[in-house]
Amino acid sequence: MSETGSTLRLSAEERAMLAGEAGPGVAKAMEIVVALGQIYGAAELTPVASVQVAGVSYKNLGDAGLAFLEAWAAQGARARVPATLNPAGMDLASWRHLGFSEGFAQRQQAVIAAYVALGVTPTCTCTPYLVGHVPAYGQHIAWAESSAVSYANSVLGARTNREGGPSALAAAISGRTACYGLHLDENRQATVVVDVRCAVRSEADLGALGYLVGQRVKNGVPFLRFHGGAGEGWALKTLGAAMAASGAVALYHVEGVTPEARAGNMVRPGAETLAIDDLSPGYEALDGTCEEIDLVSLGCPHASLVELRSVAGYLAGRRLKAALWITTARATRQAAEAEGLVACIEAAGGRVVADTCMVVAPVSELGFRSMATNSAKMAFYAPAHSGLEVRFGTTEQCLEAAASGRWSPRRAA
Ligand code: F3S
Repeated sequence: MSETGSTLRLSAEERAMLAGEAGPGVAKAMEIVVALGQIYGAAELTPVASVQVAGVSYKNLGDAGLAFLEAWAAQGARARVPATLNPAGMDLASWRHLGFSEGFAQRQQAVIAAYVALGVTPTCTCTPYLVGHVPAYGQHIAWAESSAVSYANSVLGARTNREGGPSALAAAISGRTACYGLHLDENRQATVVVDVRCAVRSEADLGALGYLVGQRVKNGVPFLRFHGGAGEGWALKTLGAAMAASGAVALYHVEGVTPEARAGNMVRPGAETLAIDDLSPGYEALDGTCEEIDLVSLGCPHASLVELRSVAGYLAGRRLKAALWITTARATRQAAEAEGLVACIEAAGGRVVADTCMVVAPVSELGFRSMATNSAKMAFYAPAHSGLEVRFGTTEQCLEAAASGRWSPRRAA
């Protein structure tokens, strides 16, 4: 037993931080990190190379969350490692133009100001790895957004648990996280082998697959084998986001693709097996029934430049009936603007919206009632979080719905 009352060992520097020698804000951060270490039976803390903080939208934080952040900042707490923010509740530059209210905008800006005072960079994206924040293989990090956690663990081979908002911020301020869960080799082996025996042809197929796997695997670690090919539209961020939404999958492996699966045998002895022969149950669970579409939402997780190029190509020379919002990181939007993609999308009537998404934005303020999306994660959360009726399908179906204002049930074969 140590002085913390558990088997958790602290270094001299960590004990000093916990005792308040680096100020009350750092002591508070250490209290959170140490408490988590004790709860989960960690033997030690580990330094983190980067942090990604969730809990940014004022819609979810409210005044209590804002006061919590401001109080912590007033204690002199500052991130001591690179730290970035998850999406906020609005586009921080174009909020007025997009229809957000003055009252919401003021409070959202106060949240961002509190995070900036805490030393967190306001990237406001769930895909920090697309805009230069790329952890290295094997690096310990503390990320919070579930889809980003999944991508960092699985596609990049970094190591993070699925942090909560306060625990990620505590990791940023202390530079430490408790070393348990996915930080340890033994917990990174697959618990379920998933044989995907049907073809996976699109992002929506990946989403439907991820929904089905997440539901069955819950917080386990799946090892996916694709027997029918993954086809075009292969986007691991979409797959991981869906598994993290319907389950709590924070790490997965894909045979021959993800780095740990390429490096060695990542299947735990005695792992269960699961066969997926048909994606229809995933589509049926996620797709609603409304026929008229007010809004088409693409970019969940936040769109890459490649996705924006593809949408701009489809929209060239067209005029949309429904609203089309493609959500992305501000840095990606700027790159798209430089290529002329934003102008092309806006000429058709679409919007490239930075810093937010339709789950964390106060959609009821904006007057939308029905939405089409190609993202299983968005389709899973939007009905409850945003009160929208949702249709789920391929990118092509979504763009056709944006053009006609109506949903066509045809699914690309
Ligand atoms: Fe990102 Fe929002 Fe989807 S945070 S993963 S775009 S629900």
